[in-house]
Amino acid sequence: MARPTKAIINLAALRHNFDVAQSLAPESKLIPVIKANAYGHGAVPCAKALSRQAPAFAVACIEEADELRKAGITQTILLLEGVFEAKELSVAASQNYSIVVENQQQLTMLLDAELPSALIAWLKVDSGMHRLGFSPEQASAAWHALEESPNVVDELVLMSHFSSAEDLDSPATGQQVKLVKALASEIGCKTMSLANSAGLIAWPESRCAWNRPGYMIYGRNPLARNSLELKPVMQFVSKVCSIRTINAGDSVGYNGAWTAKRESTIATIPVGYGDGYPRTVKGGTPVLVNGERAPLVGTVSMDMILVDTTDIVDVEMGAEVELWGEHITVDELGEYSNSSGYEVLTRMPARVLREYQG
Ligand SMILES: Cc1ncc(COP(=O)(O)O)c(C=O)c1O
Repeated sequence: MARPTKAIINLAALRHNFDVAQSLAPESKLIPVIKANAYGHGAVPCAKALSRQAPAFAVACIEEADELRKAGITQTILLLEGVFEAKELSVAASQNYSIVVENQQQLTMLLDAELPSALIAWLKVDSGMHRLGFSPEQASAAWHALEESPNVVDELVLMSHFSSAEDLDSPATGQQVKLVKALASEIGCKTMSLANSAGLIAWPESRCAWNRPGYMIYGRNPLARNSLELKPVMQFVSKVCSIRTINAGDSVGYNGAWTAKRESTIATIPVGYGDGYPRTVKGGTPVLVNGERAPLVGTVSMDMILVDTTDIVDVEMGAEVELWGEHITVDELGEYSNSSGYEVLTRMPARVLREYQG
């Protein structure tokens, strides 16, 4: 039997989630964010699965775009961080990649380039996150320079990114929206892109011509207080591969980090931090065994975890295990590991077999 640890990727759920996102803003276009290997789900299969619905895809950089093109994806691909070197511009132009232009160096490279054809550019304004983008004061000059450049096609987009859209009590999102809309009217821009998943879900005023959902496409809602019919795309599963009974007072795993208070049944699961299971999870993190939650005990090894299944009846070799998916959410894993569901998904390494369904 092959090692039973695998990520089952439900592509029908991915398409369903896309439709849910689209239904929130039926008049807008959605550009699903499939950077970082589609948040660990596999960029090429996810792009192929969405290729009938999505007019374009967003990735971080040209290497990720090239992977999609080589796999036969024909849509426009947006480089969210733009280009790092001038030589990428010709490739972008010939491959129909749209580029974000977010700083003066990128702008100069684009204006000075000799390109085989003009590019679609998305000008990014820093509306408050202070990570990427022209300051609101510089953005207007940058916009007009792009408008006049023969290297840029007419469909200029003004974009920005939210720092706190999942926090409904924060004034930041409203202020960011206001700032970008004021800038858009000043420069005469009609095509904007602001919303990530949380913006699209919770801030109707942020829905613009293009929305850029990522997390929700994979079936998770970044807003704890909001219910939407999203379906988790990834089920991370395994099977019990060893079982033992230990005495009260026996310790388990590296450095004996957990000691049994009673006679206990310990099930070993062949999954560890080498498979993207966070090493930083606290003891007691839930693991679904035979459909019931049982606590993780001891430290996470590279290839294995240990679970106290004393309170679950009939746990045998080969019992089904869910690490996360329908019953245990990646957001729970994020909380137990002092991280986030985003990171938990995205750290899924190449080692883990992805089984695509739907
Ligand atoms: C510029 C940009 N837009 C959109 C997204 C998608 O965000 P989310 O996954 O929260 O929907 C990201 C993700 O980090 C991003 O960097």
